[in-house]
Amino acid sequence: MWKPSERIKYVATTDRWPTAGEAMRSHLFSPVKIGSTELTQRTWIPAMVPWRSNEDGEVTDDVIDWYSRFAQGKPGAIVIEATGIRDIPSGPLLRISNDSYIEGLRRLVDAVRVASDGQTKLYIQLIDFLSIRRRPDPEKYFTRFLNITAEHRNALSMTGAPEADVRDALALLSDEEQERVLTVREFEALRFGYRERVTDVELPEIAELPTTLPALFAQAAARAKSAGFDGIELHYAHAYTMSSFLSATNDRQDGYGGTRENRIRLPLEVFQAVRDRVGDEFPVGCRFLSDEIIGDGSHLDDALFFGVEFARVGMDFLSLSRGGKFDDAKPPKVGWAAYPYTGQSGYECMPSYISDAQGPFERNVEPVAAIRGAVRNAGFSIPVVVAGGIYSYEQAERLLCDDKADIIGFARQALADPDWFEKVRQGYGDKVMVCRYSNYCEGLDQKHKQVTCELWDRKELDGDNVVLASDGKRRLTAPAWTPSPD
Ligand SMILES: Cc1cc2nc3c(=O)[nH]c(=O)nc-3n(C[C@H](O)[C@H](O)[C@H](O)COP(=O)(O)O)c2cc1C
Ligand code: SF4
Repeated sequence: MWKPSERIKYVATTDRWPTAGEAMRSHLFSPVKIGSTELTQRTWIPAMVPWRSNEDGEVTDDVIDWYSRFAQGKPGAIVIEATGIRDIPSGPLLRISNDSYIEGLRRLVDAVRVASDGQTKLYIQLIDFLSIRRRPDPEKYFTRFLNITAEHRNALSMTGAPEADVRDALALLSDEEQERVLTVREFEALRFGYRERVTDVELPEIAELPTTLPALFAQAAARAKSAGFDGIELHYAHAYTMSSFLSATNDRQDGYGGTRENRIRLPLEVFQAVRDRVGDEFPVGCRFLSDEIIGDGSHLDDALFFGVEFARVGMDFLSLSRGGKFDDAKPPKVGWAAYPYTGQSGYECMPSYISDAQGPFERNVEPVAAIRGAVRNAGFSIPVVVAGGIYSYEQAERLLCDDKADIIGFARQALADPDWFEKVRQGYGDKVMVCRYSNYCEGLDQKHKQVTCELWDRKELDGDNVVLASDGKRRLTAPAWTPSPD
């Protein structure tokens, strides 16, 4: 992963945890409305893909165990990982792409209700993503995948030569020469693997996204509602389709690209289709970026506009992330797909303990506060969720008291210690296992390995009912915690 050049090392520390009484009187442990429903506390576990599903995208026992473990900590809300809305194989990522998925998702909802004693609201993040292929073996790329064109022949002065000879000649070129002879997209396909973009409007399925996506999201939302979820989070963040429509890099000429008004058009149409399908009472919000952190991408001024418009059309919450783009990702190894968290934008999405003078904590807070301010100034009161490097009660309570956000997201901190919420609420904050921001978990995600945390995955491996990862070396969920004064 990209790291700032300063390479300053930080340790997440906190001076003080609250007593149970203090926690009870705090902002953090006070309720907050999300549309027609209410969270019992202002804590939120943002979506995190743990690679626990199977090749069919189903809810497995490991998925149930993973979310039940979070639910035992009784946070205000959990957002189930990015879940695919299209009925196409997409590896072990959860899917909600036809009605056969409803039963498994209902089991998941029931398990979370039981494990949290009904304290935790459960949302599901709905995602669409475009096709991405693995980085090809260069030999195969030149002998099979690349379409030989007149431009290649001209550049090599091989106009009448047999195609096989042109392929051989291309394969023998140096990296620099290949970059010169191939088109930008061909060279990218060689170095990163082929990746579709929302601007590839010459492809019929890409041109038609504004027609196809609203119905796909709406059908998935209806399934989530019938599975018993408490609401929907539309994934408009990071490297995926909807975020790419919002991006300043989207220059589609069909009324869905270019100006901010055009770029937000499909996200608003998707929301409207979802709203029409699930009704006004069912909470629907979205996750989007306070900044894409890529040179020609969207920045805070775009996000201020998007936030106000999302509020204006009646979204029930806004959750903010930042970065996480393919545009500045590092080339993957041959046989691997590009991972959108390897460049600077990836760093801003999940900052690690090796950082710059600003440090890895709360980097998203001021942009989120600005977006919340714009939404409030426009006359809307919907709750805003902040996440990014927040691990302590002191931080969370301060951000709420200072009106920076309405709900606090703890992603890696909840992964490090799913009992954070109960420990702090009951006055056992000193027992919290504080996240190191090592990004060991994120490294597992990058390799599509079952995600665990280094703070607990080797502990008590021989305990009762411990389920191990497929490598046989790590437990899949954190050991249980029971309150005790020592
Ligand atoms: C293993 C892992 C998987 C993630 N998967 C998702 C995801 O599915 N959807 C999403 O919006 N963010 C995802 N994220 C980003 C987190 O939700 C969160 O925004 C980020 O980790 C920063 O918050 P934190 O500092 O509290 O961890 C993931 C993060 C991690 C570590
Ligand atoms: S592995 Fe654990 S300690 Fe390291 S960043 Fe992830 S959650 Fe935090």
